[in-house]
Amino acid sequence: MVTPQLTEDAVISALREVKYPGMSRDLVSFGMIKNTRVEGTTVYLELQIPTEDAAVIAKVQASVREALGRVPGIGELHIQAAPRQAPQEAASGPAPLPGVRRIIAVASGKGGVGKSTVAVNLALALAQSGAAVGLLDADIYGPNVPRMLGEPGRPKAHEGKIVPLVRYGLNVISVGYLLGDQSPIIWRGPLVAQALKQLLHEVHWGQLDYLVVDLPPGTGDTQLTLVQSVPLTGGVIVTTPSAVALMDAERGLKMFREARVPILGIVENMSYFICPHCQGETDIFSRGGGRQVSESLGVPFLGEIPLNPAIREGGDTGAPVVVAKPESAEALVFRNVAERVRLAAEAAVEAMPQMIIR
Ligand SMILES: Nc1ncnc2c1ncn2[C@@H]1O[C@H](COP(=O)(O)OP(=O)(O)OP(=O)(O)O)[C@@H](O)[C@H]1O
Ligand SMILES: [Mg+2]
Repeated sequence: MVTPQLTEDAVISALREVKYPGMSRDLVSFGMIKNTRVEGTTVYLELQIPTEDAAVIAKVQASVREALGRVPGIGELHIQAAPRQAPQEAASGPAPLPGVRRIIAVASGKGGVGKSTVAVNLALALAQSGAAVGLLDADIYGPNVPRMLGEPGRPKAHEGKIVPLVRYGLNVISVGYLLGDQSPIIWRGPLVAQALKQLLHEVHWGQLDYLVVDLPPGTGDTQLTLVQSVPLTGGVIVTTPSAVALMDAERGLKMFREARVPILGIVENMSYFICPHCQGETDIFSRGGGRQVSESLGVPFLGEIPLNPAIREGGDTGAPVVVAKPESAEALVFRNVAERVRLAAEAAVEAMPQMIIR
């Protein structure tokens, strides 16, 4: 009998069956399996586990050996198990925001995929579920949140800190509110970093369950400053179903992974079109890529948001669809995404208890 050739995919899919002790999620989706290598019948892998508890490490190793023992064709197994360095304990020293329990970044590798739309509606949907929510527009060059949430305004200062504006129950800060319509804003990297740090640390955020951060596109100064400045609960990656956008989403995802920020999941935006006349669904950009990418990268899939004029109008007129048409199918989609984000955030906190205020 010929034994099928052993592949990395076979190893990873076996490891997807191994749950982290006490959790409903598996080691792969938590990003705890690193540097998997198959040489002939020998498997090498590294376990990065967010604990220094030797008993837990031993338990995980035993489960990994057991799961891989069932994969045909495995000879030797070399596991290197290192306790994961406490996330983001870099010398630059991220500091929590007092009173803010979870900080969620909304990112994408590519521009124009709907990050701001998702960030705004996600924040509003979380607030509708009863949470206290803030929204930070971290797009210093091209802030869109003021337009998306309607009427401009000028935040005031109190005891040396900025007081956020309140829009639809959200505490909101954007450089757009602070500078008005002076665009385009041309700032050099260090100034962008400084501005973002101020928007994070020099604002009276109040007691918040969630602070949603709307990032500019790509993986540049802002993203780096954010991961170095505050302990993020996790990142949400927005993509469209087109192949190019998906490749960029993968890049965004890697950035968070390298910074040891948990990935809460991928949202596929502009996923399909619902005809307003016949209600039929058309997959304009070939739907399903977001789900495939999340499966192949082992991160949760958070949902598909349709391409819909009501979503664009909501953004352009300052009345986002979640609050303007709360009964619509689109609002329901955003509420479902918000619920999955909430669950993923709680799972991330469970997996990395040392970094986050409980
Ligand atoms: N699901 C959708 N249906 C219809 N229009 C949408 C949808 N998502 C976003 N849009 C529209 O697409 C445009 C770009 O969206 P948005 O500004 O949210 O993207 P972004 O990723 O934040 O862009 P940038 O990279 O410039 O920050 C906006 O006009 C928005 O209203
Ligand atoms: Mg944007």
